Order: sequence, then structure tokens, then C-alpha cells
Amino acid sequence: MTSRRELLMAGAAGLLSAARVRGAKTKSSPFPYPEFEARIARRDFRDITKDVLPTPCMIVDLDLFEYNVKKMAAHGKAAGIHIRPHVKIHKSVDVAKRQIAEGAIGLTCATMAEAELMSGAGIKHVLWTKQPASVNNISRAVALSKRDPTFMFVVDDPQVVDWVEEAAGSANARLKIAVSVFAGMTRQGIANGQPAIELAQKVAASKRMSFEGFMAYSGGAAHTKTWEARRKKSADDLAGVQETLDLARKSGLPVNIVSGGSTGTYNIDKDNRLTELECGSYVFMDTAYFAIGGKDDDTTYNDFRGSLTILTTVDSKRHPNQVTTDYGNEALNRPTDQVKGMPWLQVGSQGAEYGTLKWTEAGHDLKLGEHVEIYCTTLDMSTAVYDRYYVARGDQIVDVWPIMGRAGAPQR
Ligand SMILES: Cc1ncc(COP(=O)(O)O)c(C=O)c1O
Repeated sequence: MTSRRELLMAGAAGLLSAARVRGAKTKSSPFPYPEFEARIARRDFRDITKDVLPTPCMIVDLDLFEYNVKKMAAHGKAAGIHIRPHVKIHKSVDVAKRQIAEGAIGLTCATMAEAELMSGAGIKHVLWTKQPASVNNISRAVALSKRDPTFMFVVDDPQVVDWVEEAAGSANARLKIAVSVFAGMTRQGIANGQPAIELAQKVAASKRMSFEGFMAYSGGAAHTKTWEARRKKSADDLAGVQETLDLARKSGLPVNIVSGGSTGTYNIDKDNRLTELECGSYVFMDTAYFAIGGKDDDTTYNDFRGSLTILTTVDSKRHPNQVTTDYGNEALNRPTDQVKGMPWLQVGSQGAEYGTLKWTEAGHDLKLGEHVEIYCTTLDMSTAVYDRYYVARGDQIVDVWPIMGRAGAPQR
């Protein structure tokens, strides 16, 4: 039953909303915050504009986001390479569903929790790119394979094949497995050539497993500066993989997938015989990627647009050529962040909850209470500390997408 107080509050909220719509948007005629979360829950975004949001918060520019998703999808179709986007950079079922709607063949996940989250949301063909080596991860990988027969994960060690074979036997499960091969990064991947083939054959010989192909992620190439240098780095990193693929062909081992690649190498890795791209950052982009240079421009990588920003408020202004914001270390403030549309500003921090914006060029200023949007440096780190994306067309919020499967014990 609605209480008298709630009715009064709703009435007051209506008046406030009406005042805001009439253009009386001053700091003293605020948004009806008591109903903010309820409105979001029922997807009523009426007069929820950027200026009423709690800051710091993440904003997705929907037009730019859609441009990025469609551009990568079109590239995949034109180049004849599948897109299996990495979710680690967005951790969002809503984003993933939009990628699938544009033709992605599945998803790539970094953690068991991400894989469970995405598969649990009904998304098929999730690839987990780490091998399970703990009791926890082995039993969850086997259980997920049983619940969702399209789920696939990697191995790079015969010991893990034995462990998962035994666990699959007890659970009466069948597993889809890709062999992770060395692609220039020392963090994982069995040596190419004979060792990789022997591991693949061990998987293929198992009654519990189907061998799907190889994963070869050349992470060092992703952020290599200039397109030509990146092309060379990726080819060098993936040279050994060519030997593995040739040997697999000779030995009659069927290879359905060769998975790898990144936003940086999306228009390179088809030549290195990848059949699918695990690119992630392209949906939002970050300043680490802006700096790598594109095929036609050595200094700026603008194949994809910066669609994600952190909205912050100028909340103190007591010193020349600098202001204080609410975007501090806890919000993953980095000196390499960049301010959208204001290249004259330098991002800095003054503590956990305090950021600074400084400038040296004359003729500039920021106002107290002004909102500023900032491109973050590393998407996967930043998205792990926020809980939602406010999705905007212009200044109007049109959707809210939860960020899930983040860092933290329950999410691993
Ligand atoms: C296994 C794996 N594949 C692909 C990627 C590529 O992602 P991005 O396009 O964001 O560089 C990553 C990023 O860290 C990764 O860890």
C-alpha cells in the first residue's frame, strides 16, 4: 500500500520534474532523488540527464558505441573472420547481447565467473581463455560444460587434460577444448610444433572431450605503436602458430578454430591464419588504444570511437589554473587519462576521492559545478570499479546497463 508520505513525495517529485522540464534546471531545483533508483529499475528515464547523475560515473555514448559494434561486425563479414568479442573490458550482458545481435559468434571470457555470467544469461559459444587448475575452477568448468554444451575452454598442459578428464568422467560431462599455444606472451600457451600437436591429439583421443582448435593470443602486438610495427609484431608472435597449423593439417587433426587477436590487430590477423578475433576494447576504446596509431595515421587510432567516458564534477576551485574533481584514485584516475573535447587539460589525482584538472594555456577556465567527461586509460581496470553504465543519447540517459562479473572474491 502506498503511504501518505510516499504520495506526498511522489507529488513533490512530479512538481520538481515538471520544473526541470520547463527549463528551471538550477542546482537548487534538483532531481527527485528519492525515486531515482526506482525510476531506473522501471526504466523510466524521464528527465534523467547527465547533469543529475551521481559522479563519478560511467557514461556510454550510444551512437558512438553502436558505430563501433557495427564497424567491427562489418569488418568481420568483409574480411571473412569471425568476431568472438572479449567481455573483460565491459563485463556487461547488455553490451554482449548487442554484439551477438550484430553477428558475433560467441564471447571470450577471462574468468570462470565471466563465463558463468554470460552463459547464464543465455549467450551461447562462450570461450574461457584460461585453463582450470584449481578444484574450484575444474569443477565449475565441468559443470558449466554440462549445463551449456556450447561452452569451451582452453588447456596448455597435459596434467590439466588428465584432471578435467577425470572430473568430466565423475560428472558424466562432455567438454569442448581448445589448446592454448604460445603467441609471444610468457603467461600461457604450450610450445608450438610437436608439443602443441601432441597435446591436441591427447584431447582429441579423449572420450570426454572434443578438440576444437587453438587459441593464440598475441597480447604484445595489441598495443604496439604504428600499424606497420604492429603487423610485424603480430606476424612474429604468431610465426610458431603457423608451424602448428601446418603440422595439424599434415597429421589430419581437424582444426575448427584459431582464436586470438585484439582491437589493435583486427585488420591484421586474418593474414596470420586466425579464424576469429577476440577483440574487446573496440566497443568503448581507451587512451592506451588512442595512442597506437592506425593504418592511415601513425599517431591516432581512430578506427573506433571513444564511446565511454567518466563523468566528473568540478567541486572546488581555489587555485589558479587548476580545479578539484570527484574523480580520484578509487575511481581509477590515471595521469594518462584524457578529457573529452578539452585537450588542454591534464588529469591528476589528489587522493582516493579527489582528482585535479590542470592547465597551463591561457584563455581557459572551468566553472564550479561544471561536468567534465574523461576517457579512461585501461578499460578492464576501470570497468571493474564501477557498477553501471549510464547510456546516453546526447545529454539524455536512455538506458542503464549493469556492470557484472567484476573483480572481487564472489566474482572470480
Ligand atoms: C585472451 C585475450 N584475448 C583478447 C584480448 C583483446 O582485447 P582488446 O581488444 O581489448 O585488446 C585480450 C585483452 O586483454 C585477452 O586477454
